[in-house]
Amino acid sequence: MAPPGLLSLAVLCFCLLVLVVEPHRAYGKSRGSFGRNNGAATSAVNGICATLVTIHGYKCLEHELKTQDGYILNMQRIPEGRVSGSSSTGGNKKQPVLIQHGILVDGMTWLMNSPEQNLPMILADKGFDVWIANTRGTRFCRKHVSLDPGRPEFWNWSWDELVSYDLPAVFDFVFNQTGQKIHYIGHSQGTLIGLASFSEGHQAHTLKSAAFLSPIAYLSHMNTALGVVAAKAFVGEITILFGVAEFNPKGQQASIFLKSLCNYPGVDCYDLLSELTGKNCCLNSSTVDLCIENEPQSTATKNLVHLAQTVRDGVIAKYNYGRPDYNLMRYGEAKPPIYNISNIPRDLPIFISYGGQDALSDVRDVQLLLDSLKFHDVDKLMIQYIKDYAHADFIMGINANDFVYNQIIQFFKNQQ
Ligand SMILES: *[C@@H]1O[C@H](CO)[C@@H](O)[C@H](O)[C@H]1NC(C)=O
Ligand SMILES: *[C@@H]1O[C@H](CO)[C@@H](O)[C@H](O)[C@H]1NC(C)=O
Ligand SMILES: *[C@@H]1O[C@H](CO)[C@@H](O)[C@H](O)[C@H]1NC(C)=O
Ligand SMILES: *[C@@H]1O[C@H](CO)[C@@H](O)[C@H](O)[C@H]1NC(C)=O
Repeated sequence: MAPPGLLSLAVLCFCLLVLVVEPHRAYGKSRGSFGRNNGAATSAVNGICATLVTIHGYKCLEHELKTQDGYILNMQRIPEGRVSGSSSTGGNKKQPVLIQHGILVDGMTWLMNSPEQNLPMILADKGFDVWIANTRGTRFCRKHVSLDPGRPEFWNWSWDELVSYDLPAVFDFVFNQTGQKIHYIGHSQGTLIGLASFSEGHQAHTLKSAAFLSPIAYLSHMNTALGVVAAKAFVGEITILFGVAEFNPKGQQASIFLKSLCNYPGVDCYDLLSELTGKNCCLNSSTVDLCIENEPQSTATKNLVHLAQTVRDGVIAKYNYGRPDYNLMRYGEAKPPIYNISNIPRDLPIFISYGGQDALSDVRDVQLLLDSLKFHDVDKLMIQYIKDYAHADFIMGINANDFVYNQIIQFFKNQQ
């Protein structure tokens, strides 16, 4: 059995295995068997700016905004680099960049490495106006105009709602604050909701370009033993049976469940991190420790079920209510409508970076994504392949600056 720290790290690292969790047990009442509660984790009550940004000498502003369905989200803005006025844009107004994290973590996940190594601070130092988004249900986004996060109604959403409510709200907010079109950077689930949202034309007037790291769109080739076990064990219409609930990865039931998965043949729980995300080449163990103290974060069980459907069905579609009549009621069709990635405007500048060791964003699934972009304007699509990178390297790799972030910055500058 793996030590608890490793287990929680595994949960943190975007594990899709939770999609088979029994939702009535993961109801979120039990707390605290995962992670430690000291240092940065405790001071996190002060907010992300105070905990991880201003301590390094950067300006950082906390913002709150409301989605159309009433969720109150929190964002951080790093408006400039450490040397104020540092500008790469030749005296023009700084361009806003919106950074969107993946599942089971929040915006803090970008800020774990040193200022010279983490994406938001590097962007700020290079003259960008940096905005860090946080998804509904995460630590600082457990608020709603009328719903209580302790109640199931609060957790009645999947990534469909992130596509149609969260992303539009943060784009509108940043656009309104800055008056400028926005560069988007998403990791993992942040790529899925970006791709889906842009394919529906939601951000047509506020989006300038998009960078997708470890793209998650098609998921049918996920090739870890654990992932396969998870997908196979997926029982289908569990939300109909159990209703909606918070999935709290720090809960005791989640921990017990994760451990039980380790008994499946072929699942190697002595190296859960690799088992789940692939062999990350370039993580700093101090960073990983800090990460464990601060993450993972809750999500909706319904969201995990929706992701499981994406694995199972091999298409990018809206949430499947599991019965034709339910779908008919909701969508006017017996099957949930698909998100057609080919509908992303062909002249939208896109940067995609994927890794050869990434177990979640499998190379074959990335190929399917690239196929759906095959009519994209050739000079608007930049694709990067990093042989040694796995899922977490893109956000926390000690050399991600050299391998990935510099290329993103160059890509953004090419759009000016
Ligand atoms: C969840 O939302 C659906 C409609 O989208 C509604 O039919 C259902 O009653 C809601 N469930 C809860 C527990 O709020
Ligand atoms: C944009 O900002 C103005 C002024 O601060 C405010 O009145 C307006 O409601 C905002 N609009 C949106 C969509 O946030
Ligand atoms: C790893 O992180 C620690 C603590 O932040 C830092 O002192 C050290 O320089 C880092 N190592 C590398 C190789 O980046
Ligand atoms: C997706 O959209 C493209 C055009 O943008 C169209 O050719 C294709 O048939 C659509 N695919 C589906 C499954 O609707």
